[in-house]
Amino acid sequence: MTLQTMDRESSLTLIRMVDNLPSLPDRYTRIREVIEDPHAGAADLARIVATDQATTAMVLKFANSQLHNPMGKNIASLPMAVARLGTRETAQIGMAMSLIYGFAIPAGMTHIRALWGHAFGVALLAKRMAALLDYDQDSLFTIGLLHDIGRAILGIRVDMEYFESRLANMQGEELVAAEQAAFGLDHAEAGAELLKLWQFPSIVCQTVHDHHSIESTSVAVKIVQIASAEVHRAIPGAADIDSVEELLLTDSERPRQLLEDAGLIEVREQDEPEE
Ligand SMILES: [Fe+2]
Ligand SMILES: [Fe+2]
Repeated sequence: MTLQTMDRESSLTLIRMVDNLPSLPDRYTRIREVIEDPHAGAADLARIVATDQATTAMVLKFANSQLHNPMGKNIASLPMAVARLGTRETAQIGMAMSLIYGFAIPAGMTHIRALWGHAFGVALLAKRMAALLDYDQDSLFTIGLLHDIGRAILGIRVDMEYFESRLANMQGEELVAAEQAAFGLDHAEAGAELLKLWQFPSIVCQTVHDHHSIESTSVAVKIVQIASAEVHRAIPGAADIDSVEELLLTDSERPRQLLEDAGLIEVREQDEPEE
């Protein structure tokens, strides 16, 4: 299929059209309200999560994962799972799932889900790297989750054929160049534009905007770039949400290794065997 060629202004106009601006899924907004409300607690969160089967399943899956369940004591109740994970982590999983399934578009659903599988992996990895760098973990999780949202928006708002075209399977520089040629802007800019309309904090908008920039010196940008490349490397092709957890939770040393390789963290001294 051929992609239509559009100029930058037309693409931006389509993204910004306020009358039917793609809205954040309802559950995403409700979860955000709960975590921002000092009077709301785990029970409120569990109630929202319980309204969706896929989210409930994912919360239980995480609560029973190796990382959170080293003693192998499996639990089957949602309130207990929320207690084990804590409200922050539960909320983050809930928000991710609402975005994955909230953008229900008839065409390209498989691609949208693969896109969010990738996003979920990047979010988890970025959060772990942020922890190692003493950097804001919540911001990095959110940024990881949303870094490629511009692709969804280009596919939904600008060109319905995006996910049926050759762009669907591209990544990195090649993707950015092809988007620039087709739409006059790339998914990083499109995503930042949307997040600004949704009033996300400027660190989120800016990092998403710069996530393909090689000149950026921002630590947040570097974390997202490393995490995204790692998820592409570890799960080539379409990242399925179920394989993501396996990838990220089996090798607990991987995040540190990636940061060391990138020179963002000092190489840990090996214990020298005594002579
Ligand atoms: Fe990207
Ligand atoms: Fe990415």
